[in-house]
Amino acid sequence: MKIKFLTLFITLLSSSFLFAQDVNNRAITVKELRLEYHVNPKGIDVLKPRFSWVLLGEGRGRAQTSYRILVSSSQKALDKNEGDVWDSGKTASNNTNQIVYNGISLTSNRTYFWKVKVWDESSAESNWSQTAHWSMGLLKFSNWKGLFISHDVGYDKTDKYNSLYLPPARYLRKSFTPAKKVKKATAYTTALGLYELRLNGSKVGDDYFAPGWTDYNKRLYYQTYDITESINQGENVIGAVIADGWYAGYIGYGLLVRLDKVREYYGVNPSFMGQIHLEYQDGTTEIIATDRSWKSSQGAIREADILMGEVYDATMENTGWDAPGYNDVSWKKPKVYTYPNGELQVHPGGLVKNTERIRPLKITEPEPGTYVFDMGKNIAGIAELKVQGPKGTKIQLRFGEILKRDGNIQTENLRLARATDTYILKGDGVEVWQPKFTYHGFQYVEVTGFPGKPDLDAITGIVLSSTVNDASTFSSSNAMNNQLYENIKTTQSANFFDIPTDCPQRDERLGWLGDAQTYMRSATYNADVAPFMTKFLVDLDDAQRWYGAYPNFAPFPYSRPAQYSPAWMDAGVIIPYNMYKVYNDTRVLEYMYEGMEKFMEFQADASTDFIRPGGGNNWGDWLSVNETTSHGYVGASFYGFDAKLMAEMAEALGKKEDAAKYKTLFENIKKAFVKKYILDTGYTSEDTQTTYAFALYFDLFPEELAQKGADRLAEKIKKNGFKFSTGFLGTKHVMLVLSQYGYDDLAYKLFKQTEYPSWGYSVENGSTSIWERWNSYTKDEAGNSDLNGKMNSFSHYAFGSVAEWMFLHAAGIDTEDSGYRNIIIKPAISKEMDFINGSYKSINGHISSAWNWKGNKLIMNIEIPVNTRAKVYIPTSNVSNIKEGNKAISKLSEIKILKSNSKETVLEIGSGNYVFSTKI
Ligand code: BGC
Repeated sequence: MKIKFLTLFITLLSSSFLFAQDVNNRAITVKELRLEYHVNPKGIDVLKPRFSWVLLGEGRGRAQTSYRILVSSSQKALDKNEGDVWDSGKTASNNTNQIVYNGISLTSNRTYFWKVKVWDESSAESNWSQTAHWSMGLLKFSNWKGLFISHDVGYDKTDKYNSLYLPPARYLRKSFTPAKKVKKATAYTTALGLYELRLNGSKVGDDYFAPGWTDYNKRLYYQTYDITESINQGENVIGAVIADGWYAGYIGYGLLVRLDKVREYYGVNPSFMGQIHLEYQDGTTEIIATDRSWKSSQGAIREADILMGEVYDATMENTGWDAPGYNDVSWKKPKVYTYPNGELQVHPGGLVKNTERIRPLKITEPEPGTYVFDMGKNIAGIAELKVQGPKGTKIQLRFGEILKRDGNIQTENLRLARATDTYILKGDGVEVWQPKFTYHGFQYVEVTGFPGKPDLDAITGIVLSSTVNDASTFSSSNAMNNQLYENIKTTQSANFFDIPTDCPQRDERLGWLGDAQTYMRSATYNADVAPFMTKFLVDLDDAQRWYGAYPNFAPFPYSRPAQYSPAWMDAGVIIPYNMYKVYNDTRVLEYMYEGMEKFMEFQADASTDFIRPGGGNNWGDWLSVNETTSHGYVGASFYGFDAKLMAEMAEALGKKEDAAKYKTLFENIKKAFVKKYILDTGYTSEDTQTTYAFALYFDLFPEELAQKGADRLAEKIKKNGFKFSTGFLGTKHVMLVLSQYGYDDLAYKLFKQTEYPSWGYSVENGSTSIWERWNSYTKDEAGNSDLNGKMNSFSHYAFGSVAEWMFLHAAGIDTEDSGYRNIIIKPAISKEMDFINGSYKSINGHISSAWNWKGNKLIMNIEIPVNTRAKVYIPTSNVSNIKEGNKAISKLSEIKILKSNSKETVLEIGSGNYVFSTKI
C-alpha cells in the first residue's frame, strides 16, 4: 500500500514536473534589452528613444504576436507592474526593435526602469523580462551651470612648419563637502579638447578620448557618470586633466602638406566644463559646477598630442592633487572661456574603451640598450609601462608596425606623426604608467633608456577601440582565410576609433569616406556598429559642403574648398542605406534625408544628360594594380547606385513621390550609362575588372547582357592568373558579382589566392592586419628601410571589405528586407572548400549557417532566431533528395518548398535549428 502510494506520488510529481518543464521550454524568453542600441545607457538625450530586445525559444517557427512594455519611475513601481511613465498596453505587433517610446515627457537627470513581455504564435504569454534602465542627461540649456575653464599656458610662438608646439596638459581641481547625506551623485562633464575626469584620487569611468571628435563649432558631446559610490560624506575632490586633442592639437596631414593651419583647427585653448548633481537623502539637491572658484595648474604631463605622443615627468607630479587633504595654495584661478556656437549633446556612439590587454610575445635587442617588444599583432592603442629605477631616468617608447631587417622598428611610414612617448621616473618603487591623450598604431614597441634589462612585464599592450568585434564567427577549411578573418577584425578594431579612420598610425587617421562606405557592410557583420555609425553620420552631415557634396572625410577640420570625390562623397548615401538595411533604422534616414537630397541635386547639377563626370579629387579605384578605371566611369556608376538606394530609402520613409522620382532618375542614368559605357557584345568600353563589377553590382547592365558581362569578368580574372587588378572600390564588388552570377568557384579561387595581388599574399608574408596596399611588404623586402614610407599603412580596413562576401556569400547570411526579419540563407557552396562555418548576431537574434561536404553529400547546419523566417537555398533540383535530420523534407510541415529549378531548391523555414543534407 505504502509502496503503491509512493509510486503514485512519484509519478504525479514527475509528470507535473515534465509538464512544467514542457511549458517552460515552450515559453519564449525576452533578452538583451537595449535602448538606442545601448544596454542600460546613462544620460541619453533622445526624447523618443527606441527599444529593442531579442527573443529566445525552443522549437521551430516561434514568433512574437504582441508585446507590452512598461516604463516606471522607480524599480518599486516596476516590480508592482505600474507603468507610471509608459504602459504600451498589449500591442499587437511582431516588432522587436526600433519601437519608439510613447509615454509622458522624459525629464533631465532622471532614471527610468523598464521591462517587456511578449505573446507568442499561439498567444502564450512570456514572463516579464529582467529589468533594464536608462537615465536622461541634461535636456535643457538652462540645466547647465558650468563655465568652460582652463589653465593659461601661453601661446604657440614656434615656427609652425619647422618645430612642434606641444603645450603641457592642464589640471583643474575643486574641493567640496556635501552639506547633507548623499543619496545620489551624477557628474555631467565635457571638454573642448580631451579630458580625464578624476574623483578622490581615481579616474571616473572607463572612457578614453572623451568627449570624442565632432565638428566642435556645431556640437560638443558631454558624458554622464554615476559617481554615487565614490562620494565621501566629508571632503571630496573633483578634478580634470585636459589636453589639446582633436580640438587644438595636430590633426591628419595638415603639417605634412603645409596647410595654413597645422593645429588649433577648432580653438586654441582646451577647456573643461561640467557639474555634479548631488541629491540628498532629504530630497534637496545641490550642484557643484565648474566656475571661478576652481583651481588650476600644470603637472606631470608635459606634452600631450594625439599624433605626436605624450611626455610624462613623474618628478613633477603634484602628488594627491585629485584627492582630499591636498594643499592647493600654489594653484591659480582658472581662466574662463566661452563656447558660443555649438550645442551640448550626448555622444550617440559611446566612447573609446580598452577592449583587450596584450602581453608581448618576445623582446629583442637589435642594438645595445634598444629593446623591441613584439605584441603579436598590429593594434591601435597605447603601451602601459611598468618600471623601477632611479629618479630622473628617462625612458622613451617608439612604435612601429613592422621591423626592418636589422630588427629595428620601421617608422618612415608614420610620416610626421612623431608617435613617441617619454616617461621620466620619480624613483620611488614600481611605477606603472599609461599615457592619456595619445594613441598609436603598432605591433612593436621600441624601448630605450630602460634601467637594466626589461622583462615581458615591462610593457602591456592596451588595445583601444570604440567597438567590440563580437557579432560574428567565421571559419573555413583554409587556414589562410581564417587568419585573414582575424586580420580583418584586428584592423576594424584599430580603426573604429570614435570615427572610422583610414589608419591609426601615420599623420592621417581621418574619417576617409571611400574607405568607410566600401567597408560599411563588412563592419556590420563583425560588430554592432549601429551606435558608432549613428554618431559618424552626424559627423558626415555636419561636414557636408555648402554646395551639396559630401567631403573626402568627416569630420572635416580643414578649410579647403572642393574636397570631394566620386565614391568617397557617396558615403553620404551608402552608409545610411546600410544602417537601414542591417538595423532597420529609418530614424537615421530621416536625419540624413535633407542632406542626401541636396547631394543628389549637386550631382544632378554636375551631370550632363544623366552622366555624372568624375570631378573633385578623383581618387578613382584607389590603389588598383595594372588596370585603371576612368574617373568618369566611377562618377557615372556611383551616381546610378545613389539613385537606386535613394529610391529604396524614400520608399522606407513612406515618401512615395520621392521614391518614384529616384526610380525614374535611376532608369535615366542607366540608359545614359549603357549608351556610354556598355557595348553590344556585353563588354564595357573600358574592359577593366572594376568596370564589370560596378555596372553589374549597381544594376547598370542591360538585363540581356548582364550574364555576358559577368562571363567577361570571369574570363579576365582567369586570364590574369586568378588574380585581381582592382583597388579599394572594385575588389569587393568583383567578389559579390562573381557569386551573384554563378561564379562561386572563381570567387573562392580569388579568396584563397596567395600570389600578389591577393589577401593571401599579405597573410603569407606574416601580416596580422589588413594592409593599405596589396604589396605593402614582403619578407624579402624587409631590409628596405624606406618600404614606400610615404604612404604605406599596415592597418587599413578598406581591402578587408571581403568580409561582406565572406558572410553574404561564403556563409550565405543576408537579409531580404531590412533588419534580418526575413533572412536569406544562400551559401556559396563549392568544392573549393571542405567547409565554411559562419554566424552573425543580427538585431533580430543569432543566425548561423555552416556547410560541409561528406564525400558527395552536402550538409547544411542552420540556426534561425525566434520571430524571423528564412529562405534557404539548397543547390540541388532534386527535392526528394533533401533531408532534414533523417526525414524527407516533404514530410515536415514546418518546411515550405517555395521553388525548385535546375539550379536550386528554395525552402522557407521559421525559427529553430535545422540540419539539411542532400547528395550533389
Ligand atoms: C588614405 C586613404 C584615402 C585616400 C584617398 C589616403 O591617404 O589613407 O585611405 O581613402 O587617401 O585617396
